[in-house]
Amino acid sequence: MKRALVFASLSVLTVLLGCGDSGGQKTAPAASGSAKKPAASAAGSAKAASGPKPIDRKNLAVFEQLPKESKSDKNPATPAKVALGRQLYFDTRLSKNHDVSCNTCHNLETYGVDNKPVSEGHGKQKGTRNSPTVYGAALHTVQFWDGRAADVEEQATGPIVNPVEMAADEKRVVETLTSIPEYKKAFEESFPDEKEAVTLVNVGKAIGAFERTLLVSGKWDKYLAGDDAALSQDEKNGLSVFMDSGCTSCHGGAMVGGNMLMKLGAVKPWTDEKDKGKFEVTKDEKDKMFFKVPTLRNVAKTAPYFHDGSVSDLGEAVKKMAFHQNGLEISADEIKAVVAFLGALTVEIPAEMTKAPELPKSTPKTPKPDPAVASAAGEEKKGG
Ligand code: HEC
Ligand code: HEC
Repeated sequence: MKRALVFASLSVLTVLLGCGDSGGQKTAPAASGSAKKPAASAAGSAKAASGPKPIDRKNLAVFEQLPKESKSDKNPATPAKVALGRQLYFDTRLSKNHDVSCNTCHNLETYGVDNKPVSEGHGKQKGTRNSPTVYGAALHTVQFWDGRAADVEEQATGPIVNPVEMAADEKRVVETLTSIPEYKKAFEESFPDEKEAVTLVNVGKAIGAFERTLLVSGKWDKYLAGDDAALSQDEKNGLSVFMDSGCTSCHGGAMVGGNMLMKLGAVKPWTDEKDKGKFEVTKDEKDKMFFKVPTLRNVAKTAPYFHDGSVSDLGEAVKKMAFHQNGLEISADEIKAVVAFLGALTVEIPAEMTKAPELPKSTPKTPKPDPAVASAAGEEKKGG
């Protein structure tokens, strides 16, 4: 069948091909080609997806448990800095109209996203990209869908000055924060060696230090640590399909993603190439359609999916990935199994992590909200 051609180049996947059938028919001939293949080859078939199949723990080496912390040598964390970062994360006064904070688009109660296809910022202007989660983002090798920021500290200053997001500028941010004595003091405590502690760079550092604390592990980590019973049989079957389909060549490591940029449409061209990913930043042909491989932790909670938020159903996202990234037409049962596995990556976020902190009060010197809608023409709209 057509698939076989595509697969030939993807040796990891060839095992799967012999067994599934195409296009989501439920009556897949169970493991037709499997006789000549190692036992593991039945993994992808609909039959295997519903029956028990032991997982070889050696294959789990592509994943890692969530680390306990995410440190930065350039931005050592102190309790004072993290507490300041948490306040800034929730403070709408960093936005021009005092109505948008980081938490507006990366709501900590809803797994660090806004569950909208694309985010709305200053003056309800829409950006062009879907807001990724902040949970665990500090562990990603780069930030943004196109990787244009190196780390969470650098990333955090972007949205504050982005005209379609918070629409402020450095002068206004510094004026606002210095007008509030508690903030001024907190900056001086957090950055004791600096003469001018209240700067946009330090806002980024404080928020970054806070974001580095947004790490929550769950049953997936228990499973990786050796507890076989932490995942249900359905979830393990889905994990088998996930691994045998080659998803792990891009979605691996501690975040099950987040550690590389890859071409969207690696095997079969993506259908919508309006946004060309990294190419938009570098204008280099070889970067066309390269996007950051997103984390799949908590993915069941962070719909809609993809850089443009174009797909709202997780099963549909899985189906598209298998087809465009791996050249596979996986069956409806396999999709269901993978969705069950992805659900096992959901963690329970402790209430104390999502709670809004008390914010220090404005003074008469604090700049007032400015509702004027920024002109969006020709300006960066990708978001932050
Ligand atoms: C108006 C909505 C909006 C606001 C406000 C906003 N962001 Fe974002 N954020 C986004 C969008 C959209 C993206 C993806 C943009 C892109 O990749 O081009 C993003 C990307 C990120 C990322 C990168 C995550 C990843 O996986 O690459 C981090 C981290 C982040 N934002 C943190 C913040 C912080 C901290 C603030 C506050 C200072 C903030 N954001 C304010 C919408 C927003
Ligand atoms: C060649 C690399 C590659 C492979 C293989 C791959 N993916 Fe992806 N995946 C990506 C990239 C890149 C994106 C981001 C696409 C975008 O920006 O729209 C993504 C996005 C996703 C998303 C959406 C997540 C979100 O938060 O928006 C899901 C779900 C997903 N992949 C699951 C899978 C599954 C399941 C497989 C195996 C069938 C798989 N991926 C195989 C690179 C890959």
